[in-house]
Amino acid sequence: MWKPSERLMDTIRHYASFPATGVSLRQMVQFGDRPSTGTLFRASQFLSEELPIRLAHRVQDLGELPDGLSEMPSIKKVQDWYAQSFEEIINLPRPTLTQEVKARLLRPGRMHGVSKILSEATQNPSIKEGQYRSSPTNGNGNAKGAATRRYFVPSDDHGHWPPELNDYNQRFAKTLQHIKRRHDSVVTTVAQGILEWKRKRQRLQIDSTVQSFLDRFYMSRIGIRMLIGQHIALTEQTHVRHPNYVGIICTKTNVREVALEAIDNARFVCEDYYGLFEAPQIQLICKDDLNFMYVPGHLSHMLFETLKNSLRAVVETHGADKEAFPVTKVIVAEGKEDITIKVSDEGGGIPRSSIPLVWTYMYTTVDQTPNLDPDFDKNDFKAPMAGFGYGLPISRLYARYFGGDLKLISMEGYGTDVYLHLNRLSSSLEPLQ
Ligand SMILES: Nc1ncnc2c1ncn2[C@@H]1O[C@H](COP(=O)(O)OP(=O)(O)OP(=O)(O)O)[C@@H](O)[C@H]1O
Ligand SMILES: [Mg+2]
Repeated sequence: MWKPSERLMDTIRHYASFPATGVSLRQMVQFGDRPSTGTLFRASQFLSEELPIRLAHRVQDLGELPDGLSEMPSIKKVQDWYAQSFEEIINLPRPTLTQEVKARLLRPGRMHGVSKILSEATQNPSIKEGQYRSSPTNGNGNAKGAATRRYFVPSDDHGHWPPELNDYNQRFAKTLQHIKRRHDSVVTTVAQGILEWKRKRQRLQIDSTVQSFLDRFYMSRIGIRMLIGQHIALTEQTHVRHPNYVGIICTKTNVREVALEAIDNARFVCEDYYGLFEAPQIQLICKDDLNFMYVPGHLSHMLFETLKNSLRAVVETHGADKEAFPVTKVIVAEGKEDITIKVSDEGGGIPRSSIPLVWTYMYTTVDQTPNLDPDFDKNDFKAPMAGFGYGLPISRLYARYFGGDLKLISMEGYGTDVYLHLNRLSSSLEPLQ
């Protein structure tokens, strides 16, 4: 098994002393649907520094957990993955460029009609001050680093670039692909680590230090995977066209389509789990042509999780043998600032005293937590029906990542309303630690 050397750990400590640089959705989308080799190369260069910084922070964080949590075998395993990925990126050979190419790379290119203002990030409205260490001046205000420490910098694309640039871009994307796969089961493995610790220390609930560690850790994972996923897709887009897509961001995400698919999937899982001929109905109220810029994968994850929760509550409150269940409503509203999706169920609600708990990792009212097999779903953390206690807290992180939020209001004895707010302006900065 791979283990980090002392020397590598020193390098990691050095990188961890630098703050991460936030990237907004707006900035990630400025590449357009056909990024040029030069622009992509600049972006690869940015990530080859930025990702090691973010990975190094995680290695340190995992090593400094309270109460012996860092010593749990699964936590150590995850820490090694981060260190190994760090090493792979910093060891990736860079091309030797002529002075002329270097100078050309640094020459500013045209912004392709994108107004300057769009590239400036604003404070993320969903994040309390001081909750995450990310400053709106990082990566754009800062005079010295402004040109180099930015994900999107348009390059001067008149004429050809030497083949070394494209070659590096391809190798870099391949390394990222490999790393992304290594980290697929991070959420389940960390959850396993928490279980090991709970058992060893005889803890029933996790305390606020562990809760805020997990919030920071998973939020950072969303950010790292967003950058990696975006960059892999952008590299592919240099030779394959995907209309309406810039990397993994869909500039015209159709809310209705994504919602209908999430409804189908949640109902299917529900039928399968409870052995129902037909899952409770879900009614969708949404304009056909409501499109906005978002990552469809994130939106479907959040909807799928909230819908599964509603269906479970409806079935368990009314009994699986009930003839007809009350209908769950999904209402989509379009505002200037937000698109809000309300999921209203008549699943009996949640006692007020349990509301804070639903945001706690590993809080679930399922008696038997399903087996946490890390190989069980390699692509993402999607539990069958319920039982991990990760659905709501992780969905809220996804919402907050792009400046949205997830709120829950319950009427005990009747039902629950979940509000999913999605920020349309998308200029808000990533929450970083
Ligand atoms: N719509 C709802 N109606 C009633 N209770 C709910 C609803 N949504 C969530 N809950 C309660 O909140 C708990 C936590 O929800 P969460 O989605 O985070 O975890 P889970 O559903 O138990 O497991 P999983 O991680 O597999 O989703 C649930 O176990 C349930 O008790
Ligand atoms: Mg759930």
